[in-house]
Amino acid sequence: NNLVGFVGWRGMVGSVLMERMLEEQDFGRIEPLFFSTSNAGGKAPAQARNETTLQDAFSTDALKRCAIIVTTQGGDYTQAVYPGLRAAGWKGHWIDAASTLRMNRDAVIVLDPVNMPVIKNALARGARDWIGGNCTVSCMLMGVGALYKAGLVEWMCTHTYQAASGGGAQHMRELLTQYGTLNAEVKALLDDPGSAILEIDRRLSAKQRALDGAETTHFGVPLGGSLIPWIDKDLGNGVSREEWKGMAETNKILGRGEGFDAPAVAVDGFCVRVGAMRCHSQALTFKLKKNVPVADVEAMIAADNPWARVVANTREATLEALTPVAVSGTLGIPVGRIRKLAMGPEYLGAFTIGDQLLWGAAEPLRRMLRILLD
Ligand code: HSE
Repeated sequence: NNLVGFVGWRGMVGSVLMERMLEEQDFGRIEPLFFSTSNAGGKAPAQARNETTLQDAFSTDALKRCAIIVTTQGGDYTQAVYPGLRAAGWKGHWIDAASTLRMNRDAVIVLDPVNMPVIKNALARGARDWIGGNCTVSCMLMGVGALYKAGLVEWMCTHTYQAASGGGAQHMRELLTQYGTLNAEVKALLDDPGSAILEIDRRLSAKQRALDGAETTHFGVPLGGSLIPWIDKDLGNGVSREEWKGMAETNKILGRGEGFDAPAVAVDGFCVRVGAMRCHSQALTFKLKKNVPVADVEAMIAADNPWARVVANTREATLEALTPVAVSGTLGIPVGRIRKLAMGPEYLGAFTIGDQLLWGAAEPLRRMLRILLD
């Protein structure tokens, strides 16, 4: 049976997944079965071959037909459907972008350029749940995973600059609406080269503080011209859920920490939402286990996988290649600003960026599907 079910294929991550699968001609390898949570019985998209009718995404019987299910529908859907499907005896492979099942003992967080050995081990022991990692963690490990693989990292401190897309499509729209409203507020003054910048700033600040609820529904406060140093839930211990994921998921991806033989590496820092569209960036501080020359670090990163690339630590190269605008919509993971920090020769700094919808979400799922088909 090569029936592969797709749920959430119309959403933002799902659409990126569909695009990537078309580019890589993945549909030729499978018989796709498209599901819908709202339009069962409707017409499936053009990629469908024999199964041209949309199936009910809440029907266990329809889902049970699939050898593999790929869902980008979100955590609520996973919670609603997955337990019943397994309870009904379905033994297929479940590939999921949502965080719901990520930390389950039997679930594997998939990022094969980084953790193919973990995936292969899990396949050998009969694992069937393959979950995409947190976007920031996946992008970070695509860039600097080489240092972890070499066992060089004593700890890592990460400060993130996360794009609106991490919240969802509505968040991207809201950010742009805010930018538009703010620009309109001061447009006349901007057009007048003689106007006073402090007057522009005063009006802008007043407008930001006065943005009405309809323009801050998704972020809760203005993001345009500002930032939000809290992402995801409040765990009640001073740590945001996004920050907690940094250590928990990094270690699980690498096969370290709870449930594995190797001890966890400490990963901590602050996660911040900024006004970028779909690229997550991170400033990283490593305490290495030994003093490794920068040139060796660069060579390791460059050789690790085909997508990570070293950006020379110069102003010119940084402005050209190490910005969300340069990376958006591409699979490249630039790693730049690599240098020793003033704290000592074992302290290494780096800055990395990844497209949150590609390596951060759709691509690891697509590649896991390929691994299962091979
Ligand atoms: N939690 C991430 C963010 C998104 O809000 O940017 C996906 O992992």
